[in-house]
This record gives sequence, C-alpha cells and structure tokens, in this order.
Amino acid sequence: MHRLTPYVPGEQPKLANLVKLNTNENPYGPSPKVLDALRAEAAETLRLYPDPNSDQLKAAIARYHGLNASQVFVGNGSDEVLAHTFQALLNHDAPLLFPDITYSFYPVYCGLYGIHYETIPLTEEFEIDVDDYLKPNGGIIFPNPNAPTGIPLKLSGIERLLRANTDSVVVIDEAYVDFGTESAVGLIHRFPNLLVIHTLSKARSLAGLRVGYAVGHPDLIEALTRVKDSFNSYPLDRFASAGAIAAMEDHEYFEATRRKVMATRDDLVSALRQLGFEVLPSGANFIFARHPGKDGIELASELRERSIIVRHFKNPARIAPFLRITIGTDLQNQQLILALREILA
Ligand SMILES: Cc1ncc(COP(=O)(O)O)c(C=O)c1O
Repeated sequence: MHRLTPYVPGEQPKLANLVKLNTNENPYGPSPKVLDALRAEAAETLRLYPDPNSDQLKAAIARYHGLNASQVFVGNGSDEVLAHTFQALLNHDAPLLFPDITYSFYPVYCGLYGIHYETIPLTEEFEIDVDDYLKPNGGIIFPNPNAPTGIPLKLSGIERLLRANTDSVVVIDEAYVDFGTESAVGLIHRFPNLLVIHTLSKARSLAGLRVGYAVGHPDLIEALTRVKDSFNSYPLDRFASAGAIAAMEDHEYFEATRRKVMATRDDLVSALRQLGFEVLPSGANFIFARHPGKDGIELASELRERSIIVRHFKNPARIAPFLRITIGTDLQNQQLILALREILA
C-alpha cells in the first residue's frame, strides 16, 4: 500500500469570500426542483435502505438519452464509476492507452488495480490525435473534452477510432461534454465496446451530491454491476437518487445554466486574449491559458494574494506555464479580469 500514489484533488479552502475557480464546480446552484426533491426525501423513510439498483434513477437517465435502463450504470460520482471501469473492463495484458496530459486520476487507478498502461503524447497543439492510438492495446480512455486542456475532439475522430479499434473497450469520459462538446452517447448503439461516462457534478451543479453514470452495451454494464455488487450494494443513498432524478428531468434549468456558463467563457476568453494570453480552445466549463510574460505558478500565487484561486499543474513541464481557470459567475469573471490586469500592468 505504501507504493500507491493517491490522487490529489483541487483545494477546498475553508476561507469564505474567495473567488474559487480551481475545481471546475458550477458557479450556479442546482435546480430548485432538485432542492425540493431533497427536502421531500428528508423523511421517515430514511430508516430504510435505498434501492440497491437505483432503478428509478437509471430510468430517468435512460429517458434523457433515449436509451434502455439496461444500458445505464450509476455510481457515487463518476470517479467511482471510473474506478469500477478500470477494474472491470480495462485490466488486460496489453497496455491501457491514455494521453500523457489528462485527468490525473487515471494513472492512480492503474496503480490501485495493477493495470499496465502507456501514455500517448498530445500533439504540439495539445490535441488528441486518434491515429496515435491505433496499436495493440488493452483499452483506451480519455476525457472529451480533455482535461485540463479543455480541448474537444470531434465526434468523427471518435468514430474513426471506434471503427479501427474493435477488440478492446474504449471509454470516453464526458465529464464536461455539456459545455459545447459533441457527445459520443449516440454511438453506443453501433459500437458495443464503447462506454461513455457522465457526471452530475459539473453541468448539473451537483458536485456535493456525488452522482455519476456510464452508458454502453448491456454486457459492459453487467460487468460494472458485478464489480459494484462485490464492493458496495448501496453507493447511491436516497438523497443522491432523488436529487439526481430531479436534475435529469429539469431540462430548462440545465439548458439555461450551461448556456450561461458558455457565454461567460466566451467573455473570459476574449478578455484574456486582449491581455496577451494564449487560450486553448475550450469545450468545457474551464479554460487553459498561458501568458508569455509570466509563468503559471507566479500568476496563480499573485491571484491568490487577491483571494482568487485557480489551478496550476507543475507537472508535466509542458503544462507548467498554464493556468486552469474554472468559469465562474459574470461578477467573479470581472474580478478575475481586473486582478489579472493589475498583475500584468
Ligand atoms: C475528466 C474528469 N472525469 C471525472 C471527474 C470526476 O467527477 P465526479 O467524481 O465529481 O463525478 C472529474 C472531476 O473533476 C474530471 O475532471
């Protein structure tokens, strides 16, 4: 166990009044219908265990995507769904492939489950080139849009990868897909080796509730369910299920908040470019940017002095000049731009 290198999540500071733009949470609260559902759940029935199969939630997710409930798996945050995916579907003799710059939990799960992996370098433009993945493998996983770059890969690229790679499972982690990236969910009918993972933490403003899900061929879902049932019968409590159902059903609120976040992102990108930043194209609720005149670590610490926290990654060296900035409210955006203007003056 002392050889495990755990994942280090972004800081959750205890101080109030910070402009917290470091962990890609939604700046808007969850739908009022979610809050109503949670209040209704605070009842005498809490003495009873929840449904171990989360059937109602699976049905709500299936309805949202136009799928059958047998194509849906749910878990305690998409991190748990990912963990079961690594154990159930990605542990083979040939190496698992993922980008060299990506969600840093992937190598951690490989360490936990003893999975052999190989990282594939992003291109000079920090993009995923699917041709680089066309070689023998025990599975392929990457986020789309990728994290922390935010760069989306077109659906045609994913389709090309799936057509060429039919013998191992391909996992697309769509944590941020609702902020302007094309989803691969529609491809699961044609590709039985495709698993697509979603979370309610980002576009549905429910990071605190811990709900994520995977959709794919029923055989993949069954494999995940076996692992889950060997680990925890009740990963989703009554609150999580009730809140998640309400969130999946409130289309209007979901549309309004994700569009607002994307509009604020557009404003931020143009303001940053005016300040001389290079901003990578983003299909996410965060942007990845660097300034030719100041290193990422300096910028991050000068922002922190002004009570604004953003995320900086020291490794790999290629991304050390960058900051990953979560899209906040318009007010937070203005505070951030003002602070950067001051710092760079
Ligand atoms: C790419 C990616 N996948 C999955 C997750 C996990 O999200 P959650 O466990 O909150 O569903 C995150 C969280 O930041 C992420 O960035």
